[in-house]
Formats: sequence, structure tokens, C-alpha cells
Amino acid sequence: MEASAHTVETQSGGRLIVVSNRAPVRIVRTGSESRFETTVGGVATAFVQLLDKYGGLWIAWSGGVEEFGPAMTAAPERRFAMHLKRLSESEVTLYYWGMCNRGLWPLMHQMTEYCRFNAREWNAYRKVNESFAADCATAADTGDTVWIQDFHLALMPSYLRRGAPNLPIGVFWHVPFPPPGIMAKFPWHTELIMGMLGADLIGFQTRADAHAFLRCCETFCTVAVDYQNELVRTDGRTVAVGTFPIGAPVDYFERLAADPHAARRLRQIKRAVKVEKLIVGVDRLDYTKGLIERLTAYERFLERHPRYEGRVTMLQIAVPSRTRVHEYMMLRRQIEEKIARIIARFFRAGWLPVRYLYKQYPPETLAAYYLAADVAMVTPLRDGMNLVAKEYVAARADLNGVLVLSEKAGAAQELTEALIVDPTNIDQMVGVIKQALELEPDERRARMRALRARVKENTLEHWADTFLAALRAAYRGAHPHAIAKS
Ligand code: UDP
Ligand code: G6P
Repeated sequence: MEASAHTVETQSGGRLIVVSNRAPVRIVRTGSESRFETTVGGVATAFVQLLDKYGGLWIAWSGGVEEFGPAMTAAPERRFAMHLKRLSESEVTLYYWGMCNRGLWPLMHQMTEYCRFNAREWNAYRKVNESFAADCATAADTGDTVWIQDFHLALMPSYLRRGAPNLPIGVFWHVPFPPPGIMAKFPWHTELIMGMLGADLIGFQTRADAHAFLRCCETFCTVAVDYQNELVRTDGRTVAVGTFPIGAPVDYFERLAADPHAARRLRQIKRAVKVEKLIVGVDRLDYTKGLIERLTAYERFLERHPRYEGRVTMLQIAVPSRTRVHEYMMLRRQIEEKIARIIARFFRAGWLPVRYLYKQYPPETLAAYYLAADVAMVTPLRDGMNLVAKEYVAARADLNGVLVLSEKAGAAQELTEALIVDPTNIDQMVGVIKQALELEPDERRARMRALRARVKENTLEHWADTFLAALRAAYRGAHPHAIAKS
């Protein structure tokens, strides 16, 4: 099914077709009722903004299982059409919960202790990728451009190329890419990489990720790798590889932060919290986000600096995520125990040292939390980019905020004026928390000014335009006889 939403043509003369596992909404079933809920995560947030601007078609999983709920089109106010794919219960179990979340996610983040690889799950992953490719081939017309997102759909480019050999196919890998030593542990590494190489262009968040991918190509596949020009030659085709750090929708967060709604919400937050300084964390509840280490550092900070008792609070928003995966259930329990312990140790009348919000907020409310945050702590153990870091900066036109950022987030490559930390070095983080709280106003403003210049240089729209221009160039290079399209 395809919605009749108004679409605009891309510069190539055709539509932009975005394909991802996650849609901007998911179908949730309660009792016999199905309803739609918005989803959280870098990919969903980014493409709602982009497709609303450019129009086009978005193909993604419905978020439910086959028998639940009707097929759905985009809300009428949206400018893009949606094709929501239904998956069977067994596909969701094996492909999404299994291969994607227990296999590929920890593999890509180099957390092999959490990896579980299973041949049935890999088979389901193949089938779902094939079925995404078939839907896309049916939906696409000559002149359209296909942009596939993330690690759920690594095999789709080569399946799609088989079914629709003349479409420009781009892949963007939102998560990190592991080096060959880690990739070697994955039983189907060659198939995964060859699947990706069905694309004309494969984009990564950082140079290190792009380089790791090229090294994996060389190590596991019979292909020729040109490191200098970041090209891979395979089956008589050339695949371009590049670094395209994703940006945040800066104007959007600036607008949200300037809206009276955010001001009202900010007053409510301040009334509820009543401390001199608020430290804020905003993350999906995920073991890659370094939440335990962050809380440990904060606990140690309170222990070492008792004069801050009653004056500072850490507010952690933890968005429920992948709640059926054992490691996520365990992590939730650990986090909640840790928070209970900090509260029990330091609590005194009228002051809560930590506030914990286990829920998801709409961007309008997040903007108010960004404004409330004297310090934002973004300290993942490993992260492709981390859009929260960039959104925080985008929201702080007042220049009054301090960003503490993990060196292991892709964002650290650009946001060098943040206070950069090693998220596993607890003592260093204790020192940086103190430094962040005590930064002189001049330095605070100078750092934020520089950070804002950086996020404005590379916005979400700039990222998309750059990627799509590179995709068109790669496609023309690979198809020199194709009609020049831009
Ligand atoms: N987000 C949201 N509501 C929340 C928490 C987060 O909409 O309550 C959004 C946030 O604005 C950001 C995305 O979720 O755009 C998280 O992206 P990020 O790259 O930081 O991490 P990911 O979840 O993709 O690993
Ligand atoms: C990360 C991934 C996205 C994913 C998001 C939320 O950002 O890169 O592809 O959509 O997490 O995870 P979920 O499993 O809920 O889609």
C-alpha cells in the first residue's frame, strides 16, 4: 500500500525512497486494541525531519506483528508517503529481537560479550532483507533514489541490485563499524559485507568506521580496496565509501527551545527540582550508553565533594528500549538499584540527589530539559554519533550550558569544544563533573558558541544533501551511460 501524501521530486528528477527497519511510529497492542506510538532513536528522529522537508516514500517495519493492526499511511499533515511493512511474529522474534538486537548491535559496538549468533536468526535476517528489497523494487520507478538505513538491512543492497539493477542505492550505517579482529567472530561476515557492497555508496559516521569497513572488505572478501580514494571494486563494479557525520535538525531544536511551551515546561522543571545546578542525561536505556559508569561517577562526585549536597541533582531520562532482550532487562534493574542506593546514601529533606524518568518524551519536552540542563552528560561507551549531544547544543542559543561528551561517541570528532571524557575512567569523570559545574561563565559561553558554530555547519539537511550528492556522483561513475540526472 502506498499513501497518497504529497511528494516532491528530488534533484535527480525522481523520488527519494528511504528504507529503514524502524518507522517514525510503531503499532502497539493493548488487549484487543491496536494504537500507534511515536518511536525514539537517531534514525526515526532524523528522517521524520528530512522527509517532511523533501517528500518521498519511506519503507519501514510497522513495529508490530503481522496480525496486529491495519496497514497505515503517514499522518495527513506529513509530506511523505509511508509503506509500513508487516512482519510475522516469528520474523520479528528471529530477525529483530534475535539477529539485529542480540547479534549485530553488540557486534557493531564491539561488545562481543553480549553477542549471540544463531543460524536460524541469520536465515530470518536474510528473508526479511529480501522482502524489504522486493517491496522496494516494486515501489520504485526509474529515476528514484534509494537510501537504505543502518545495520538491520545490510543484505538489502545486493538483493535490491539483483531486482532493480539501475537504481542508485545508498547505504548509511548509523552505528560504528568494528575492525576485522572483532568482525572475525561473526560467522557470516563475508555475506554481510558483500550484501552491503550491493550499494553504489556506503556512508559511515566517522573516518575510523569507514576505514574499519575497508579493512574488513580486504580481509574477508575477494575485492580490490583503494584506501586512498575509498573505493571497493567488486564484480566489475565500483562501490564508493565515505564519511558523512549525521547532523541534528538545528533550526527545529532552536525553534522548540524558543517556544513558550518550552519556557512553561522549564519553569515546571525548575520548580520541581529546586537546586542550583542540574545535570541531565537523555538516553535510550541501552548498555552502550554508559549509564552505570555515569551514575558511579556522580555517586563518587557527591562522596568527594560533600559541599555539593543539596545543591546539585542529576536527572536521567532513560527511554524504554528493546525491553524483551535479557541484557536490557538486567541493565534496567542495575540502573534502578544504583539510583536507589545513591538516593538512600545521600538523601536529605527537600533534596533528591538523582531523579530518574523511565519514559520517552516528545521533542517539545526534551527541548525544555535541554534548557534546564546546566550540564548535559553524554557519555556512551561507544556510539555511532549521538544526536542528543548535537540537539543539546542546538537548543542552547542562550550559551548557558556545558556539554560533557564521551570520546567514544562519533560526535566527539566534531564537538571538540565539549569537555571530553573517557566514559570508563570514573575518576576522570568525577573531575570533569566538578569542572563542568564550576566553569567560568566566559569559558562556558565561549565553548558553547564554538560548539554551536559546528552544529550549524553540519545540520541534518546538510548531511542529507551531501550524502545524496555523493550518491548521485557514485551512481554516475558506475553507470557512465545513465542519463545525467542533476
Ligand atoms: N529522543 C526522544 N525522546 C526521548 C529521548 C530521546 O525523542 O525521550 C530522541 C532524541 O531527540 C534523539 C534520539 O531520540 O534524536 C536519540 O538519538 P541518539 O543518536 O542520541 O541515540 P540512539 O537512541 O539513536 O542510540
Ligand atoms: C539506534 C539504531 C537505530 C534504531 C534506534 C532505536 O539509533 O541505530 O537504527 O532505530 O537505535 O532502536 P530500535 O531497536 O527501537 O529501533
